[in-house]
Amino acid sequence: MSGPDPQDWRRWVVYQIYPRSFADSDGNGVGDLRGILAHVDYLHELGVDVVWLSPVFRSPMDDNGYDISDYQDVDPLFGTLADLDELIAELHARGMKLVLDLVVNHTSDEHPWFIQSRSSRDNPRRDWYWWRDKPTNWESHFFGPAWTRDDTTGQYYLHLFSAKQPDLNWENPEVRQAVYAMMRWWLDRGVDGFRMDVINMISKDTSLPETRPRPGSAYGPAGQYFTSGPRNHEFLQEMYREVFAGRDAHVLTVGEMPGVTIRDAVLFTDPARHELDMVFQFQHVQLDIGANKFDLLPLKLPDLKAAMADWQHGLAGRGWNSLYFGNHDQPRSVSRFGDDSPAHRVASAKTLATVLHLHRGTPYVYQGDELGMANSPFTALADFRDIETLSFYAGAEARGDVDLPALLLAMARMSRDQARTPVQWDASPGAGFTTGTPWLAINPDHTQVNAAVEVGDPGSVFEHYRRLIALRHQDPVVTDGDFELLLPDHPTIWAFLRRTAGAELLVAANFSAEVTALRLPLAASQAGDWAAAPVVLTSLTGETPLQPPPDLKLRPWESVVWRRARS
Ligand code: GLC
Repeated sequence: MSGPDPQDWRRWVVYQIYPRSFADSDGNGVGDLRGILAHVDYLHELGVDVVWLSPVFRSPMDDNGYDISDYQDVDPLFGTLADLDELIAELHARGMKLVLDLVVNHTSDEHPWFIQSRSSRDNPRRDWYWWRDKPTNWESHFFGPAWTRDDTTGQYYLHLFSAKQPDLNWENPEVRQAVYAMMRWWLDRGVDGFRMDVINMISKDTSLPETRPRPGSAYGPAGQYFTSGPRNHEFLQEMYREVFAGRDAHVLTVGEMPGVTIRDAVLFTDPARHELDMVFQFQHVQLDIGANKFDLLPLKLPDLKAAMADWQHGLAGRGWNSLYFGNHDQPRSVSRFGDDSPAHRVASAKTLATVLHLHRGTPYVYQGDELGMANSPFTALADFRDIETLSFYAGAEARGDVDLPALLLAMARMSRDQARTPVQWDASPGAGFTTGTPWLAINPDHTQVNAAVEVGDPGSVFEHYRRLIALRHQDPVVTDGDFELLLPDHPTIWAFLRRTAGAELLVAANFSAEVTALRLPLAASQAGDWAAAPVVLTSLTGETPLQPPPDLKLRPWESVVWRRARS
């Protein structure tokens, strides 16, 4: 039997670097490319195949680089183009790939395209952005109006995010060609793919209708007028033809798509349609969110299992899933979905990873998750830096309609800053991240939670991630197997089967701090002799499961993976 094809992109594991918070080489408190270069061996040791780098391009940093003023240069804060070339070379030398963040729904207002566009009503680039005499009542993702008046010409421009992130007008073919040319330039330079920022917002309803305002507000969300809009598929197919078709190596593509439906995701990721490899959907990271992201709802495990299973079934055999519990926009996954108390942090971080990576799709490891990094104990407004969080607080304060101490507690749980605290390399005062003052406070738990103590310790979260990633590379069932959820209604056990013609994995995970006994509902055709099947992975390193399947007894946050051959 020949092993899995390592060049098949479906077997790859992606690691996300948020450069500002990864490693600082020059002591200014902000991470940079030379900091990343100092840790490429760490990434190689972890075993990941691909690095997705959040934006390092020239930017006024209104949204930490998601506001780009030059797509073809590196911001001096992060280094130089030569540093980026070196990073590509060093990753390639170790068999890894580099995916860049492509932020083309909008530019910075300091991008030359926008500077020209705003300069006069008849500038040739005027139509590269959305200009109108009258604004609509759309609310921006960072709260407040999505239109801002520009004094130069007295017209308003559209920005779905901050006023410093004007939306490009993808209806204009020159805009699209300029974006494609930039993408080709990066691929020719050695880049291996793109993570596409809010790429399901590029096609708007061009009539720009009024939306329903929120109660008590003049503005309201207008997602129905720009989410997976009328020309979205057409634009991505054109991008494929213009940029990706005919290249020697596979170009890895993942589209970030807030609000995407399964039905649309099938179309976006069906290989026959030549659009994208996969999308980031948001269903499972919205289950604990009410009217806004600081309105927290209790999370029920059956809902989380169902959200993930819906996508497994919805895309099976047609599209392809991306798998994530965290990224630079979400709080730390161990604090949100696991248990970050000292007794259970390690086991729950491993269990979360096991469950995620053994679903079908491409797993994304967000920097620090492989160390089990948790949310920081933020308490004061001064602890936060993120534009989304601070805008929401400012709005609430101005309106006077929110209990501010309660809001601060919710911010401490959900703010994007929780993902962005510096990576914890060691126990020193700067956590090995910086010799200076970090731009965002380091989590005080770095004295215990850090790479120096974890790498090489068989019981660590890091070593568990290594084993999990290695399992994917060795065993085709992890990539290829179909998915069947067991016990969908069980309040604390997450169990499922993965199956190819030749092999089967059984995953059972306890999402609670209680010892839990149960009998797995394995159909006679599946039951077979699981009792004799070997354990291929466990979250309680060195411990033997208390019971073999189908009668299980799982310790707190214990997860176990069994494998057997099928004949
Ligand atoms: C995406 C990014 C987020 C950014 C926004 C605007 O959602 O992940 O960090 O603020 O787009 O570019």
